[in-house]
Amino acid sequence: MIRARITGTGSYVPEKVLTNLDIEKFLDTSDEWIRTRTGISERHVVADGEYTSDLATNAARRALEMAGVDAKEIDLVVVGTITGDYPWPATACVVQRNLEALNAGAFDVSAACSGFLYALSCAVDRIEAGRAKKAVVIGAETLTRIIDWEDRNTCVLFGDAAGAVVLEASEGEHGVLSTHLHADGTQLELLYQPGFGTRLMPSEETLAKRDYFLKMQGNEVFKVAVRSLTEVANIALKANSMTAADVDLFIPHQANIRILDATSKRIGLKENQVYINVDRFGNTSAATIPLALDEANRAGRLKSGDIVLLDAFGGGFTWAAALLRW
Ligand code: ACO
Repeated sequence: MIRARITGTGSYVPEKVLTNLDIEKFLDTSDEWIRTRTGISERHVVADGEYTSDLATNAARRALEMAGVDAKEIDLVVVGTITGDYPWPATACVVQRNLEALNAGAFDVSAACSGFLYALSCAVDRIEAGRAKKAVVIGAETLTRIIDWEDRNTCVLFGDAAGAVVLEASEGEHGVLSTHLHADGTQLELLYQPGFGTRLMPSEETLAKRDYFLKMQGNEVFKVAVRSLTEVANIALKANSMTAADVDLFIPHQANIRILDATSKRIGLKENQVYINVDRFGNTSAATIPLALDEANRAGRLKSGDIVLLDAFGGGFTWAAALLRW
């Protein structure tokens, strides 16, 4: 059977670091509140003139370099993002241009924090179907551009980053074993950006109402996130006749340490099976999983044959999991 195997990982975060102590200076909050409620100590923030496509391109270049693959060999560039450079065309097209991946199709996937796993599943399916041999899949976000820096309920949670993987068609046991996608649009207003799609266009009224910014009902999101992340992780394990004990590394979407802890416990995972970096980057939406995967890979935490469980939840709501044999 043809499988899609990850042969390179890469990531990129903007240089500027914003600590909780920095935020304390302009917002009614505290380092102590942010750390105890979220586990976040700092996050990276894009500079003026630095865009989602720039982060994505840098991450992709690093992944291609690790894989030893030339951009011209790539058949597909897929970017999971909700903070693309433009409403359209796709940020994937900007990345394709930057990489000079002249033989690749390119599109974006909008699934909020599940964006990377949704994007991964699209590329995996094309590779398994024999329609692509090499793909670059990226999760990239500049969420700090759509958060309301006057809203302490949300602005302390998010950061900017990109992560990427190179997938190659491969025979054998290694690679992506399965992907699982779910959604429930009935509660989408619990976590969304009301403007500026075509429903609420830019106007004096929408600007005054701050409709451009991300809105979230954190408490409600918390409960659904834990339930959905647990459910889909168990679905992925069951589909491969595995249990939590088989997992060498669990890389969940890094939203909040309390969500990560509650989810890991419910799945039956021990602390040493779980990768956590939310303390240093905050919630970077579609970028959290590929960023963590790249860190873990470069730190030597992944050995050939390891079982890796990826698990995400985000706006939509959307949630997804992928199980890999490294
Ligand atoms: N600093 C200080 N106080 C704050 C802050 C802040 N930054 N934010 C909120 N508070 C206050 C509130 O105003 C409230 O005060 P009140 O009781 O006087 O009204 C109090 O703290 C408690 O607020 P809660 O919302 O109940 O706090 P909670 O313990 O639920 O934590 C949090 C809030 C961190 C947002 C939590 O609900 C959460 O993590 N939710 C999940 C959010 C998330 O991770 N979303 C993303 C997942 S999906 C995705 O990644 C897109």
